[in-house]
Amino acid sequence: MTQHLPDRLFADAYLTSLHDAWCPRDARDDYDFYLPRIMSAGAVLDAGCGTGTLLHEVRQRGHSGRLCGLDPADGMLKRARWRDDIEWVCSDLASVTFAREFDLVVMTGHAFQAIVADDDIRHSIASVRRALVAGGCFAFETRNPSARARERWRPDNAVVVTGPDGAPVRIATEVVVPFDGRTVSFTHTFTGNALRRELERLHLSPPGSELSAEVNEVRAWTLHMGEARFVWLAGEQKSGAIR
Ligand SMILES: C[S@@+](CC[C@H](N)C(=O)[O-])C[C@H]1O[C@@H](n2cnc3c(N)ncnc32)[C@H](O)[C@@H]1O
Repeated sequence: MTQHLPDRLFADAYLTSLHDAWCPRDARDDYDFYLPRIMSAGAVLDAGCGTGTLLHEVRQRGHSGRLCGLDPADGMLKRARWRDDIEWVCSDLASVTFAREFDLVVMTGHAFQAIVADDDIRHSIASVRRALVAGGCFAFETRNPSARARERWRPDNAVVVTGPDGAPVRIATEVVVPFDGRTVSFTHTFTGNALRRELERLHLSPPGSELSAEVNEVRAWTLHMGEARFVWLAGEQKSGAIR
């Protein structure tokens, strides 16, 4: 099985501190789909839970059952753990050994696409199957390649978010290996003075030097078939689309 190393984007303390500003709650069009399903399920596993904001909100709304967030990136989980009435597990999905414990497993924010190798996908789905009780449901979504979102992943579409110190950080996404019908590879480049200070603190960039304060990372995501962004409900025999 492929050894899963968390992306730097999700492991690095500074980069994870930008995550929730980059993907703010009011821009999430997927929560309306997931929330009612989670609220009506007894025990829920959020696989690839990231900073845990979905389960935080679920508990806040009064869910009283078992909530468990799973993520291989400890940087993300560190942000999730401020709520201690939720279980947090540091692992990739393929490696967990839950057995008939959850009524619902969700994988939101395209997290499923971070699993790229066929073997890894097979083992991850087997983990979900094992983790679910009889009649349980797996809800996740993937991007639709025909929506061609990757064509907008260009530096001229960069976004600027406010970092934890109040300073602006520019985030540019750029395709580096074009879509081959299956996988696309892209970089995120973070640029800002706070990053320069981070690099200086790590002695990677001498104070006052002309080095560019950028953190750059290549990631590969599998793009699966669908219409806009498909939501798959395995076990319920039905699906819905989020646009
Ligand atoms: C784009 S973030 C989405 C986070 C969160 N679900 C949300 O909707 O905001 C993708 C997350 O999936 C996690 N991830 C990547 N590979 C994974 C795997 N094999 N098993 C479980 N989670 C994984 C990453 O560490 C990251 O936190």
